[in-house]
Amino acid sequence: MNKVDNFRLKFNNDNKEYVPIMIGGMGVDISSSELALEAARLGGVGHISDALVTDVSDRKFDTKFVADKRKQYKDSLNSTDKSRIHFDAVDIRAAMQLHVGKTMEAKRGDGLVFVNIMEKLTMNNPKDTLTTRLNSALDAGIDGITLSAGLHLNSMAMMQENKRFRDAKLGIIVSSVRALKPFLQRAKRSNRMPDFIVVEGPLAGGHLGFAFDNWKEFNLAVIFSEIKQFLHESNLDIPLIPAGGIFTGSDGAAFLADGAAAIQVATRFTVTEECGLPDKAKQEYFRATEADVEVNTSSPTGYPMRMLSYSPSIGAKLKPNCESLGYLLENGTCAYIDAYERAKAEAASKGSKAFGVYEKTCLCTHMQLFQCYTCGHYVYRLKDTTVKQDDGKYQILTAEHVFKDYQFSTDGKIALPASAILSA
Ligand SMILES: Cc1cc2nc3c(=O)[nH]c(=O)nc-3n(C[C@H](O)[C@H](O)[C@H](O)COP(=O)(O)O)c2cc1C
Repeated sequence: MNKVDNFRLKFNNDNKEYVPIMIGGMGVDISSSELALEAARLGGVGHISDALVTDVSDRKFDTKFVADKRKQYKDSLNSTDKSRIHFDAVDIRAAMQLHVGKTMEAKRGDGLVFVNIMEKLTMNNPKDTLTTRLNSALDAGIDGITLSAGLHLNSMAMMQENKRFRDAKLGIIVSSVRALKPFLQRAKRSNRMPDFIVVEGPLAGGHLGFAFDNWKEFNLAVIFSEIKQFLHESNLDIPLIPAGGIFTGSDGAAFLADGAAAIQVATRFTVTEECGLPDKAKQEYFRATEADVEVNTSSPTGYPMRMLSYSPSIGAKLKPNCESLGYLLENGTCAYIDAYERAKAEAASKGSKAFGVYEKTCLCTHMQLFQCYTCGHYVYRLKDTTVKQDDGKYQILTAEHVFKDYQFSTDGKIALPASAILSA
């Protein structure tokens, strides 16, 4: 009987074998160090994320990066022009050293911990900040980097002087052959092909690599097979890792039998103890119905994003917070600032100060506050993976339970937590 455990993940730059389960990066600290470390302990691959790394460092290590930056740029608070605001490379490096370095110090087991680095975090200086993030992650000892959301074509070149450029596992997330081709062409110039390619389909959580008006026309199995074919024709042997909507071990085993090197999964881990979401948000994920899941254009990045329709981020009225965070600033602006100003002006024209911003969301702040409930399409099936307790809340799972369910389950089954079985 086919199950994920019948397969092993291998990379071309080491001789080791890993359980072929990768927990995908979920910013901001939703894929926490604790979650990533569990995946590594169990022999698979976990991800932390470097999104809002200064804030993550403040929360975990008592640094003051966010407050200090806000103080430094307080003169911009009442201006819509945020071009003065910049990140200090020394601060980014220090925050990365703490977040990545401390995670790696705590690593146990035979698996790996990677960091998800989104190019779309433009930080008002995309090239320099990305170069700093990539190299400081390598310097802090990360096992691998997954480049996502945007794919800067020069990412490989940005790391090529780093002494870990060859030994770390460097991979990318793409949703089409079209996006993959130019990246590979550029990577060739650095004489460094990616060690793995995550093929993300339209049912994934977070931002989607598809257009808002046609994402429904795409299908993970089709894209996976197109990319597999393309690599075969190009004589490239790069492990492929499908992601997006792989909800059971059997879904995963089917991809592995079809030539996938591993699977990347995320949504099922959002309701685990180790996941960084607050308990309230975990319950919001559990209670979702299919009708509550929407793909919308509220992210200022320009990419469509999937989330629950009752996310507090939708229609909120937050003053832009770029002095503190500002991770999506590009050329001194962010689409949220314009949307906020438009909504404010419209309310003012009616003599009102009350308004909500529906067009865009202040993604930095709402992700910081865990108020944007981004999720994979099958979030509404999470309630079938656990039990409802007497107090009406769903039982939170352990990452080990979910990981092992993916690893060992067959016939499309999902194992309930042990407590449910005992009380049955
Ligand atoms: C809550 C949440 C946050 C996510 N955040 C990110 C992110 O910051 N960067 C990224 O590349 N992918 C992100 N993703 C996508 C996942 O890493 C993963 O590829 C995808 O969700 C897998 O599909 P599944 O959730 O159906 O298992 C996120 C997914 C979820 C559910």
